Amino acid sequence: MSTRTELLKLLSENSGIYLSGQKIGESLGVSRNAVWKAMQQLRDEGYQIESRSRVGYRLKAKSNMLSQDSVAGDLRFPCELKIFDTVDSTNAVAKTLRPGNRPILVIANKQTAGRGRLGRSFASPAGTGLYMTVALRPDFALDKALYVTMAAAVAVCHAVESVAGVKARIKWVNDIFCSGKKVCGILTEAQSNFETGRIDTLIIGIGVNCFPGNLPEELQDIAGCLSPRRNSFSRGKLAAEIYNELMESLSALQSKSFLREYRNRCFILGKNILVHPNLNGVSIRARAIDIDDNGGLVVEYMEGRKSRQIETLTTGEVSVRIEP
Ligand code: BTN
Repeated sequence: MSTRTELLKLLSENSGIYLSGQKIGESLGVSRNAVWKAMQQLRDEGYQIESRSRVGYRLKAKSNMLSQDSVAGDLRFPCELKIFDTVDSTNAVAKTLRPGNRPILVIANKQTAGRGRLGRSFASPAGTGLYMTVALRPDFALDKALYVTMAAAVAVCHAVESVAGVKARIKWVNDIFCSGKKVCGILTEAQSNFETGRIDTLIIGIGVNCFPGNLPEELQDIAGCLSPRRNSFSRGKLAAEIYNELMESLSALQSKSFLREYRNRCFILGKNILVHPNLNGVSIRARAIDIDDNGGLVVEYMEGRKSRQIETLTTGEVSVRIEP
């Protein structure tokens, strides 16, 4: 374990209590300088650490930590809650678990190998984001899995609006936008049983940029965050609310009642977009017309071989960019 991780553990175990630099150094077996450096690192990540001269350091009692305490109290549906500081990917962790009757909710403060759709990576810096995966045994067939990402997108919008107080919209199929920038992505995976045609385990991964953080340079223009003010809302509460909303929308999945709201929130409808059919850099101009009852995006091509033709794009095989 790194000094930073050990220090975080020590401070959280003694939350609200001042510990001297010397005592921390002795407990961790490192120099006071190393303690100071790790302290700075945690502060840069957004942890609220108070210091008093000649007394020491403590984690503010209401620090925006992701912990059992900060999440469990706001959960309205049962689950097995697993919270980590750092993991490679919460989806990868969730895949190693076997949910029973209760879903498993895996939450991390940081991911070292966060995964996005279509084999992309998902930047997951510590302290400023929320990375969570719900693993559950669904009671619906494989074909319904296509709706799960859409229902999850609507659920995230509700949670974001009630906890962070900002308007959230959807870019088909799995991106949540606030103020014109992507703030959240969803990666749904299924471990299925082809003999029965049913899904054994459904893995729903949700990554939210909550506060300004260390995102890679190439994402600066595309990615945003929910609030410019660090710790202006509780990440634990947001995690719980996303889970609550997700459970509600999944219970109504068969009725497809989420579709109407999904359409209303989908801001590309009626707009000119670029469709990337093979993700090979080639794009075709089209107009986004509608979301059909199966969740497909109905487009009318505006150029090329298919000009004026109407086609329904299904989830997973294309990415869509709004034309500049
Ligand atoms: C995308 O935008 O392409 C989807 C991003 C999904 C990211 C989340 S973060 C929590 C979960 N764990 C992962 O490795 N990915 C998902």
